Amino acid sequence: MSETVTLTIDGKKYTAERGRTVLQVATDNGIRIPTLCHNEAIEPYGACRLCVVEVTRGSRTRIVTSCLYPVEEGLIVQTASDRVIRNRKMLLDLLLARCSENEVIKNLAAEYGVTQPSFRQEYWEKNDCIVCGLCVRACEQVVGVSAISLVNRGISKEPAPPFLEKATDCIGCGSCYYVCPTHAIKMEDKNGVRRIHNWKVEFKLKKCSKCGIYWAPEAQLEYIRRKADLPVGFFDICPNCR
Ligand code: SF4
Ligand code: FES
Repeated sequence: MSETVTLTIDGKKYTAERGRTVLQVATDNGIRIPTLCHNEAIEPYGACRLCVVEVTRGSRTRIVTSCLYPVEEGLIVQTASDRVIRNRKMLLDLLLARCSENEVIKNLAAEYGVTQPSFRQEYWEKNDCIVCGLCVRACEQVVGVSAISLVNRGISKEPAPPFLEKATDCIGCGSCYYVCPTHAIKMEDKNGVRRIHNWKVEFKLKKCSKCGIYWAPEAQLEYIRRKADLPVGFFDICPNCR
């Protein structure tokens, strides 16, 4: 039987399973904490720091990232204290300076009253990527391919294929595209070909032998077929016609 703890979030008591994070418990109970680098299918990493909350344990109060912080007996959490809001505002101000054209960032920043970045923007090239690393972690942890990684340091840090060349290990599954919180990854399926522009790759899409729709990259299907030890031709028919 799983052990439970009792904690207080924004003045209200909750019971939660030990091992859950503050973010998970808050979300389960309808308390919204903003996140950018969080995805339930991927191990938390604490990259964006937008999910900060204030926690009090005994006589000590501090700011922590709720996506990484496990619940504890007697913990007191404040998800929107003045200190928390100040922290988030500062982060969004920085993100807006880097991604000034990005709708996701602009909307989030506006929620906190930040409409113009107060940091100098010339340090950053116009960019939609907040370097949260979700694409890299999805490729590694969910797909098991590791076609991309975070390269360079400081403001030049970015997700990229090895040597900034074409991502030769990429199978075109598009997981990176689907998890990216700011839509920084550009992918298109057109005329039977999938292109992922950020990694300089393109893939032939498989045509269903029954209905004729293009439904998934051949390289991805072949990767799954081999991993699952499925017979040749298993993916000739799309899931809708199966
Ligand atoms: S491309 Fe998207 S998912 Fe990848 S690091 Fe940048 S913002 Fe995160
Ligand atoms: S969601 Fe917790 S640090 Fe990004």
